[in-house]
Amino acid sequence: MHTLDLPIVDLDDLLSDDAARNDKAAATLKHGYGELGLTAVAGHGLDQDRLERFYGDFRQFVSLQPEAKTALNRPDIWYQRGWTPPNTEQAVVAGGQPDFKECYFAAPLPLDPLARSYHPELFAENLWPEVDDFSTDYLHIGRRMHEVGEALLGGCERALGLDEGELTRFLPGAAHVSRALSYLPMSAEQAGTDILWGEEHTDFNLLTVLAGGRFYAPSGEMAPRPDDHSGLYLRTPATAEHPRGRMVRGVAPKGMMLSQVGQQLEILTAGVLQATPHVIKAPTAPGWTRASMAHFLHAHAMKTLAPLPAFWSEQAAKAYGPPVLAGTYAMKTLVDIALAPASTLDKLGYRHYDRLAGIREVEDAT
Ligand SMILES: [Fe+2]
Repeated sequence: MHTLDLPIVDLDDLLSDDAARNDKAAATLKHGYGELGLTAVAGHGLDQDRLERFYGDFRQFVSLQPEAKTALNRPDIWYQRGWTPPNTEQAVVAGGQPDFKECYFAAPLPLDPLARSYHPELFAENLWPEVDDFSTDYLHIGRRMHEVGEALLGGCERALGLDEGELTRFLPGAAHVSRALSYLPMSAEQAGTDILWGEEHTDFNLLTVLAGGRFYAPSGEMAPRPDDHSGLYLRTPATAEHPRGRMVRGVAPKGMMLSQVGQQLEILTAGVLQATPHVIKAPTAPGWTRASMAHFLHAHAMKTLAPLPAFWSEQAAKAYGPPVLAGTYAMKTLVDIALAPASTLDKLGYRHYDRLAGIREVEDAT
């Protein structure tokens, strides 16, 4: 097994007035996002005690009986708020095997009401369980992760020689969403097999920020990682020697966040920044669980996804075209990963045929 120390971007450097520190952070971003699609993030300023308190509250929610969670189980809004039950989400490559996780979605920032009128599911109001400090801590952590993501995206502009705002202009009012994840314990028969906590996928948004998860022993106590097998693995780019790339375990120093490039950012940069396939592996011992918190920065639903002029070429147009609205892209992806029903795609385009058929069915009154 190969282990990779992830490149570390220090936010203090990235936001510093000192040009040398700034350049250093931008160069690390370009290397990390360009070659691995991933970096560790230092200097993020998120209080780790508060994060652990939230994980405690989230685990309390997860431990409730399914009946107690039913009101927060909302397939009608594609699970984009509230509880995603186990055995729901499936990676595209998974062949029908859902991920071993249950999750909670909430939006930590104000959302664009105009976009909500077109995409009521993506822009739905938050739902909250009646668990201690769940909502206040959730929103606090989500907002901090968003600020980190915004700074990183600004850093990408500098790293790629873009004008200020060329990437961050996609952010205001978008359907940014945070997600608390609880990975399920493997049974004695499942542990040590090929079953994964999270199947291989690339994120479909612009940029993902991960707050840093925690493992819990079968006793329920928080505990250090039980083995070197479990955690995040990423697929390195293909080379002549390794045409399928290599699966390497990505390791970040304790207490740091992680950041990952999503498909939308790869499209905008025509692949200069890479959305890297990754998997989450469970420990080889049964009974272990893991809690983690992610924040997904999205392009605004009404913005067009296509290579930016700085990255446009005939080849880029072939690889990443035709242009598509970010909201449409999200609808298609949520169908692909089994969160939205296939009928969602019937909403795309016009309704003239239905309208005409409806008119022709009306009985003539005369
Ligand atoms: Fe992911």
